[in-house]
Amino acid sequence: MEAHPYTGAPADRPRLESLPVQPLLTAEFDADPGAVYDRLRRTYGPVAPVGLMGVPVWLVLDYREVLEVLKNENQWRRDVRYWRARAEGRLPHDWPLLAGYEVRQTMFMDDEEHRAARVTLHSALRPFQEPSTPQGWELRATVARYADELVGMLAAESGTAGFADLGAQYTRPLLLMVTTKLFGCPVELGDELVMDLWRMLDGGPDAGPATGRALAAMTRLAAHRRARPGDDLTSYMLLADPGMSDEQLGRELFMNAVYLNDITGNMVLNTLLEVLRGNAGVRRSLSAGQFGETVNRAALVNPPVANMCFRFAARDALLGDFCVRAGDVVSPSAAAAHQDLLAIGSSPMVGSTVSTRAHLGWGAGPHGCPSAARELGGMIVTTAVGRVFDHFTKAELTLPPDQLPWRTGPVVRGLRLLPVRYELSGRVRPSAPGAREEPVAVDTGRGDSHVRGMLSALRRLMFGNR
Ligand code: HEM
Repeated sequence: MEAHPYTGAPADRPRLESLPVQPLLTAEFDADPGAVYDRLRRTYGPVAPVGLMGVPVWLVLDYREVLEVLKNENQWRRDVRYWRARAEGRLPHDWPLLAGYEVRQTMFMDDEEHRAARVTLHSALRPFQEPSTPQGWELRATVARYADELVGMLAAESGTAGFADLGAQYTRPLLLMVTTKLFGCPVELGDELVMDLWRMLDGGPDAGPATGRALAAMTRLAAHRRARPGDDLTSYMLLADPGMSDEQLGRELFMNAVYLNDITGNMVLNTLLEVLRGNAGVRRSLSAGQFGETVNRAALVNPPVANMCFRFAARDALLGDFCVRAGDVVSPSAAAAHQDLLAIGSSPMVGSTVSTRAHLGWGAGPHGCPSAARELGGMIVTTAVGRVFDHFTKAELTLPPDQLPWRTGPVVRGLRLLPVRYELSGRVRPSAPGAREEPVAVDTGRGDSHVRGMLSALRRLMFGNR
């Protein structure tokens, strides 16, 4: 579908600012976003005006329109300077989502600048992408080893049978360890960063300061690796673009940390949830070893990036039943588009392997998740999920699926916890964090105290942040 530019918008079309809007983020939205998307679609059609923490936004609901917004970069821009309300000073200065949008990095660039930034990321990720390179092989082996160690720690802490939260006791520490390893972080960056990324994405009251802290931490990391290059993503980014300042590298790492840590972790949890709640397609593909298909199917049901980043209209354009004015903000919703896709296709279409690939869990178009990052994300998700089912002889939810607690926020569809009753196979060896001889393989260059720091950070994550 093409957007239809106007030289001037027809006068009878309502402006976003003049429409009455319902707040999107409600208790109903947390519990059942699908019901909210449905109602919006029935009321407004494929595109609906909604309030996001007091700011009106066009929420794009239907698959066709979402694809148009994702793919047509000439019309739907990423640079936040296109946003009219921002340029005119009409956004509240403490609007919780603004801090994240002010961090200028790949996601919020257009055209040549954007393409060049993606090339840099691609070449920095390439060594880790291939299973045949030493870095790629080592990373794969490390993810599996971390997963095994965390299951061993679970056995030591909670026994070989009992109750566990697969969020706090497995997925979140796993992704923290992987991020630390891949980025070449000194360990003290870890847990502080994870919580700040959550605060920023969920638009909590302290989202602004949290964004500042995460950014500062990533800038320190950039400076650290410039002085002490290693076999890590940060150092490879510098190799790919030696002219990049520490501040810009910090901004890029910050955004990659969001995806690697939070989004990938949520993809792990959402996939585990589909298996545990008996999604037949997900279970079938998992037991057949079709891990890519497992992730596709889980992403179709619950994409972790439920509502993608804002785009800004370059010119007035028709979208759905509305005329979106130049400078208006639109938020393409992958979750709502999937609901639409499932309804359009009905069961025969989405029953096949080919059609599950139509999901927008990786985004689409010029700003879609870069292929090297998808490979990496997919590898981590399938390893993390696969290891759980290798080690657990029994795992069942301890809450009915409709009572599971979800995070509140406009972007991420993520579980706060994933409580299970489990039994581990006899092969799992309990390994208490303090009792390990081999530390987590993080090249900090700073000795045992940092290894202990990492382990205590893990314990805080596991038991302190429920
Ligand atoms: C299963 C895990 C992942 C999922 C579901 C995912 C999903 C996405 C989605 C939906 C977008 C597009 C957002 C938008 O258009 O607003 C995106 C972009 C991006 N992702 Fe991923 N991602 C994952 C893993 C990763 C990893 C591991 C990395 C890096 C190490 C990464 C790096 C990026 C980057 C840099 C972009 C921005 C691309 C651009 O704007 O040109 N992602 N991802």
